[in-house]
Amino acid sequence: MPARPRARRRAPAGPQPEGPGAASPPPLPALPEWVLGIESSCDEMAAAVVRRGVEIVATSVRGQADVHRPYGGVVPELASRDHVRGVWQVVEAVLADAGLPAGRLSGVAVTAGPGLVGSLLVGLSFAKALAYRHGLPLVGVHHLDGHLAAAELSDPSLRPPYVGLVISGGHTALYRIETGAAPALLGETRDDAVGEAFDKVAALLGLPYPGGPAVARAAGSGRVDAVPLPRPLEKAPGCDFSFSGLKTAVALEVSRRAPLSARDVADVAASFEGAAVDVLVARATRALREQGIAQLAVVGGVAANRRLRETLATRARAEGFQVVFPPPELCTDNAAMIAAAGHRLLARGESHGLGLDSFSRIHPRRPPRSSAGP
Ligand code: KG4
Ligand code: ZN
Repeated sequence: MPARPRARRRAPAGPQPEGPGAASPPPLPALPEWVLGIESSCDEMAAAVVRRGVEIVATSVRGQADVHRPYGGVVPELASRDHVRGVWQVVEAVLADAGLPAGRLSGVAVTAGPGLVGSLLVGLSFAKALAYRHGLPLVGVHHLDGHLAAAELSDPSLRPPYVGLVISGGHTALYRIETGAAPALLGETRDDAVGEAFDKVAALLGLPYPGGPAVARAAGSGRVDAVPLPRPLEKAPGCDFSFSGLKTAVALEVSRRAPLSARDVADVAASFEGAAVDVLVARATRALREQGIAQLAVVGGVAANRRLRETLATRARAEGFQVVFPPPELCTDNAAMIAAAGHRLLARGESHGLGLDSFSRIHPRRPPRSSAGP
C-alpha cells in the first residue's frame, strides 16, 4: 500500500467564505497571500499551502516506495496511476489542514517539469481544473527552481548572491543565484546524477529502493576508508561533476568480494558515501572560491544525507562560509518548495494559463524559470 499522506499544520487561516467559483479570472492580486503548490514530477504526489511565500501553513506528501520497491526503482506507468489515485487526497488534506476553501487561494503553482511526463500531467491537469473552477491564476514552476526556493523558505536570512548546489536523483549542478535573474549554471554532472549513483550502488549492494537512504543507513556501521575509491574531478578545473566512474569502481569491488557479507555491504556503502561526499564538498567549495561568494545553499534529495551535512558544516566553520540545508523533508520532493517558487512568479503578475504544458528534460530555452529574490 502507498504511504499515507502526512499533513502538517503550522498556522490556522481562520474561517473564510467559500469562493464564487467564477468562470472568468479575477484581476491578479498585487501580493499573493495563499498559494497552493502541487508537485508530481516523479514518485511523490505532494500538495502544500504557503502563505506570502515564506510560511508553510500545511504540507502533505504521498510517497510510493511500496509501489516501486518490488521493481527496485520507479516504474513510470505505476507512478502516474498512483498519482491519479492520490492527487485529490493530498490537496484536500492541505486545504482542510489550512482551514482554507479553494476559492480563497491567491493562486495555484504546479511543477511543469522536468520529470516523468505521465506523472507531471496528473498534477498539471488537476491544477488546471482547480484554477479554472475557482478562477485562480495558475503558474508552472521549474522543479529545480522549487528545490532552490526550499533553501530560502527554510532560512529567510539567505539572500542572493549565493551558490546553490542542487543534488537529486536526476540532477547534480551548481548555480549562481542573483536577485532578479534566472539561476546561472556554473557546472553540472557529465554523466550520472549523484542521487542516481546512490540508487545504483544500493542495487549493487542488494539494498532496497529507495537507495539513497538505504546506502546512508548501511554506511553508518561501515568504515569509510575500507575501500580506496576514486573521487572523479575532485581537483579538476571548473565546476562539473562525474559519478559514473565511481559507480563502476563500486561495481568492480562488489564483484571482487562476492558473495558480500553484512560487513562488506557496510564497508562498501561507507566508502562510496565518503567518496561522493568528498567530491560534492570539493566542487561546492571551489565554486564558492571562484565566485567570491560566502553563502552556499544545498538542496535536493541527497542534501538529506547526514555525512554530507556534517562534513560541509565542519568545512563551513573552518573556511568561514555560511551553509544552508533545508530540513530533510524540504530536501526531498515536496510541494511547499513549489508554492514558494510559484509565489515569486505570481507576485510578478505572471499567469501561465490553461495552455501550460509539461516538459520532461531541462531545456535551455524552456520557460518558466523563476528568479531568486523579490
Ligand atoms: O529531490 P528528490 O526527492 O527527487 C528528485 O528530484 O530526484 O531526490 C531523490 C534522490 C534519490 O536518488 C535518493 O536516493 C536520494 O535523493 N536521497 C539520498 C538520501 N535521501 C534521498 N541520498 C543520499 N542520502 C540520503 N539520506
Ligand atoms: Zn526533486
